[in-house]
Amino acid sequence: MATRIYLIGAGFIARTHAEAAYKFYGETPTDIELKVADPNPKALASFVEQFPHAVTFSDMKDMLAEEAQEHDVVVVCTPPFTHFELSSYALKSGRHVLCEKPLVMNASEADELSKLAKDLGKLFGDCSDRFIGLPKTEQVKAIVASGQLGEIYKVSFIHRDQRGRAGIEYQPESRWFLNSKLCGGGILTDWGPYDFTVLADILKPSAVDVLGGWISKPVTGADPQDVVYDVEHNSGALMRYHAQGQDRPVLVQYERSSCTHGEAYSLVEIEGTLGAVKFSPYFGGDAVVHRFDEQGSVAEKETQVPNDNAYGFMDAPLYFFVERVLGRDSAALLNEDAVFNFKCIQAVYESAASGNIQSVKRG
Ligand SMILES: NC(=O)c1ccc[n+]([C@@H]2O[C@H](COP(=O)([O-])OP(=O)(O)OC[C@H]3O[C@@H](n4cnc5c(N)ncnc54)[C@H](O)[C@@H]3O)[C@@H](O)[C@H]2O)c1
Repeated sequence: MATRIYLIGAGFIARTHAEAAYKFYGETPTDIELKVADPNPKALASFVEQFPHAVTFSDMKDMLAEEAQEHDVVVVCTPPFTHFELSSYALKSGRHVLCEKPLVMNASEADELSKLAKDLGKLFGDCSDRFIGLPKTEQVKAIVASGQLGEIYKVSFIHRDQRGRAGIEYQPESRWFLNSKLCGGGILTDWGPYDFTVLADILKPSAVDVLGGWISKPVTGADPQDVVYDVEHNSGALMRYHAQGQDRPVLVQYERSSCTHGEAYSLVEIEGTLGAVKFSPYFGGDAVVHRFDEQGSVAEKETQVPNDNAYGFMDAPLYFFVERVLGRDSAALLNEDAVFNFKCIQAVYESAASGNIQSVKRG
């Protein structure tokens, strides 16, 4: 029986999922059945130009009306304000659901979907796992787990870009990225899902305290005046990560900005009493730099760890999720794990708004 993949939304990200589906599960309609729904006829037309085997619908309810089969997968590829309603509808249609990041608009929607999936016996996945499983990150995890760094006490997780705002400098045609009612938030909502998923993958927290968070919207001459633009493009927090079996929590200095008048730089570094390891979990090269002490002097070992996975990072969410649906092991980010990471992001917003410490517990 052909694997059936249903895409809701035919925009930019839907194409990456369609590519992954064909790449891993076959190119002909007998290998895979790819269906896509979008109310925008232009989006559908250009989608089928690229993927001529895809069956199109203008209404996702018509697409999901046929009887569900055990391994059917729906991928929600629409702007964030639609994620809750569409994921909920797709789960109730009897299918497993993989939702684009950011998962939903608030913590109660996240809890509700996770519960719904559990009650229905379906998987609910989050595309925030896009950068999980990269060999360089796996090497960093191995160094951390080996104890070579001693007692880990601090992580810097900083990405500062001067002009890279979604909806302005990046993908300017998708203005919904600028309106909080449509997208849920700015850069913290857009990149935070990846950041908090990578942090959780490395530090395995059972709880996270946000000691102090901030969000800000730097003003520039390129700010659009003709649309709602009310989201932050500079954000950060000081956080305490508690891991099971660890005596002391790890402090995480976090920052993510797509617009700053300050310096642009990235630094991801894990520091312990016996050493430190620095790398880029994303596009900043494949180097893993391990620094330690050798008879009172700083020693440095740099290893290049290129990505030799069969899947690229844009393939990862669909590939991981379908593997799990088919009963095979994978790094898919599912149900309560996805909800935990989402709640950490919400806690940064809440701390920024209230000035109070916010705590998130797993489970
Ligand atoms: N653009 C990126 O680089 C990128 C990367 C990773 C994740 N994402 C995430 O993917 C999601 C979609 O982003 P995008 O860049 O593909 O947006 P996009 O604007 O390119 O496409 C969204 C599409 O959804 C359609 N749509 C809206 N409501 C719909 C509905 N009710 N039913 C069916 N279709 C509907 C729109 O007509 C549009 O064609 C967002 O959550 C975004 O955060 C985007």
